[in-house]
Amino acid sequence: MSPTFDRVADILAGQKTGQKVRLRGWVHRQRTGGKLAFVVLRDGSGTVQCTVKAGVADDASLDAAKAAALESSVEELEGTAIADPRAPGGYEVQATRFVLHQRAEAFPLRGEQGTEFELDKRHLWLRSTELSAILRIKGRLYKAIRDFFVADGLVEVDPSVITTNACEGGSTLFTFEYFGQTAYLSQSAQMYLEGCIFGIPKVFCITPSFRAEKSRTTKHLTEFHHLEAEAAWWDAEENRRFQERMVTHLAHTIAKECEADLRLLGQDPARLMAVQAPFQRMDYAEALQILQDKGFHIPYGEDFGVPHEKALTEGRTSPIFICDWPAHIKAFYMAEKPGTDRVLCSDMMAPDGYGELIGGSQRSEDIEWMRTRLLAQWHAMRDSKDADDRRQFQHEADAIRARLQKARTPAGTPAGTPPPTVPDADVDAEYLKPYEWYFDLRRFGSVPHAGFGLGIERLMRWFTGQEHIRDMLPYPRTPARAYP
Ligand code: 4AD
Ligand code: MG
Repeated sequence: MSPTFDRVADILAGQKTGQKVRLRGWVHRQRTGGKLAFVVLRDGSGTVQCTVKAGVADDASLDAAKAAALESSVEELEGTAIADPRAPGGYEVQATRFVLHQRAEAFPLRGEQGTEFELDKRHLWLRSTELSAILRIKGRLYKAIRDFFVADGLVEVDPSVITTNACEGGSTLFTFEYFGQTAYLSQSAQMYLEGCIFGIPKVFCITPSFRAEKSRTTKHLTEFHHLEAEAAWWDAEENRRFQERMVTHLAHTIAKECEADLRLLGQDPARLMAVQAPFQRMDYAEALQILQDKGFHIPYGEDFGVPHEKALTEGRTSPIFICDWPAHIKAFYMAEKPGTDRVLCSDMMAPDGYGELIGGSQRSEDIEWMRTRLLAQWHAMRDSKDADDRRQFQHEADAIRARLQKARTPAGTPAGTPPPTVPDADVDAEYLKPYEWYFDLRRFGSVPHAGFGLGIERLMRWFTGQEHIRDMLPYPRTPARAYP
């Protein structure tokens, strides 16, 4: 039988005082003095100071402890746990036996070498107390999410990440060759979830989403984890009611269950306990008015940026919804707000400038409206001021035109014959074809429905009060980084 090991956390909780303990882990800190070595041992549940002293421990143990370089692995540390107010955390282990497994080479990270260096050494930086705390909170969050959704009757499904549909459109698509066909990495599972609700009316998923975001900000990743939900018969308001109930529940759960890790990150859990539904609903026009009153020059019809989000949410304790945005700055699938130029949607904004957490909407059931919106957005890329948008349009339009020309060239046409002319209208019609399966959902038992997507790392950034979204996952992907 393999020996059992104690947990540092239990020692720190006073449950082992006066008892013999056996630990294993890594050397978090170490210093020596004469016939004595202090080793701070980390085992994943906490860190505890261990003294290895001549006379108490055998000579081999003392030599091993003295040689224990930073981040060496410790196979076995035996000793007695004692309460000592001078020791960090209030407890100490007086070792009788200390056995190294591997003596580490000189550890490259010292903590003040700059962000890029730390990101290059991310695989080693992951041992830091802060990152460990964040990842533990995130793990707890995933459980809280699944518990909440399942209790509410939603079923978890797993849609594909390889897709031929642009959901959010634009130049943030990652394109790749899929056996001779152009495919994308999914920006959102939404369209696939919509296809699921006719068999299982309320579904959700947690999948990676990809955005070729050029913007290097503290809240954008090129790969993030997307919690998405879709429900038959929901309208935009029922969608919001679910979202605010969910976010409140998650905030309270993390505040209660992750108190120690939040405090380690310098956060008072009371901040999350203060989150309370219902969240304020603010019409887009109302938000615009507030911004203009605060001195921002932002015309009707424009999207909000970081300073605007900040101005609208500063000093709040709970998120807010900004509702019913102009159609032309939102995705094609959102339901038209009758008699207006708006769509039935809302963005949930976190307090204190942490930015957009959720994008949600009631989905359109009107195929013609969606076709018009898709083409309008595609043409907007053609006419965009952004060169990347224009390039993306041209790339797709050229590929479609070439495909049609090939299909329309009769067999046996002599080489060198100019290709047949393909009118722009035909290219447009071809552009819409990959959406036919999606339009089918409106042809066979269409229902009013709504859903939303929440960026897990965005939520985590707000919950943990951290500056940068990249620290919300172990191996962040940004335009500048896909290593390690
Ligand atoms: O607002 P978005 O683009 O909405 C959608 O993708 C919808 N199709 C979701 C749905 O209705 N099922 O993205 C949803 C959320 C954002 O509010 C944000 O939290 C997160 O996804 N997000 C990102 N997180 C990190 N890095 C990025 N580049 C992100 N882009 C979006
Ligand atoms: Mg959005």
